[in-house]
Amino acid sequence: MKKNLCNFKLIQNEGIYTPPPVGLSIEFQVFEARYSRSRHVDSAEATRDNEREQADGVLMIRLEKVAKVYSLGEVEVRALDGVTLTIERGEFVALVGPSGCGKTTLLNLMAGIDRPTSGEVWLDEERLDRLSDDSLTRLRRGSIGIVYQFFNLLPTLTARENVALPLLLNGLRRSDIEGRVEQWLQRVGLTHRAAHWPHELSGGEQQRVAIARAMVVGPRVILADEPTGNLDSASGEAVLDLLGRLNQDQGQTIVLATHSQEAMKRAGRIVRLRDGRIEGIEES
Ligand SMILES: Nc1ncnc2c1ncn2[C@@H]1O[C@H](COP(=O)(O)OP(=O)(O)OP(=O)(O)O)[C@@H](O)[C@H]1O
Ligand SMILES: [Mg+2]
Repeated sequence: MKKNLCNFKLIQNEGIYTPPPVGLSIEFQVFEARYSRSRHVDSAEATRDNEREQADGVLMIRLEKVAKVYSLGEVEVRALDGVTLTIERGEFVALVGPSGCGKTTLLNLMAGIDRPTSGEVWLDEERLDRLSDDSLTRLRRGSIGIVYQFFNLLPTLTARENVALPLLLNGLRRSDIEGRVEQWLQRVGLTHRAAHWPHELSGGEQQRVAIARAMVVGPRVILADEPTGNLDSASGEAVLDLLGRLNQDQGQTIVLATHSQEAMKRAGRIVRLRDGRIEGIEES
């Protein structure tokens, strides 16, 4: 890994970064992550694969009367207001609706990034709103792949290193990582760009790296927040084709927030939100 990595602090494995506290480099954190965390990731993953096969067709995500209220001084913003929704394994669901209707808030609750003000959020048998912060972090590292509108790749890591990072953080050995990383770079069609820095890649290529990074841990669900929102239509199509293939060929469960008609066409179900409530659900 490149040596001059100390400009950014990685928070969990979600590609979100902020300036680090003095003296704490990302290399240190990656090192710490590799040597202090569970060494049983491979067997845990095998167990999860088994569970996945057995549970095919069952509910994966369940939201029960979920509300999310933000308090801004005297003002309350009711971002979600009594949302009840179930998503089955292998579904491709689009969350749509006008700006501010609650799409990102809903994805953040499903990802365990945020907690509801009231109601229940389930991922398989786990009730996320009751998990500790540590458990949520662990769950996100292994079970949830997140894709953002602005890609959120670490700028000081190459495409290959960006894809490898979640596996390093999960404590896998380098020898176990390499094959999986190359496989995912190939699946997203970027083997020839593996050594490039994010700024040397097009937006569409960066988003495909971000999808490879999300997929490399074998997540139960991919949560994508306007993944084509920052792309031209051809690059957006390529990203949607990729997500469509992951859903069709691998049965990957995908929940995607979008304003794009093209993205809606790929989804098996469209959930329409308005003012924090579900206005309607369409099967396509
Ligand atoms: N951290 C926050 N603090 C206060 N209000 C918030 C916060 N995050 C979101 N909101 C508010 O909650 C509502 C839902 O926001 P959200 O980001 O979920 O909408 P969205 O559907 O994703 O919109 P867009 O299509 O513009 O991305 C909005 O009114 C927003 O202003
Ligand atoms: Mg949003």
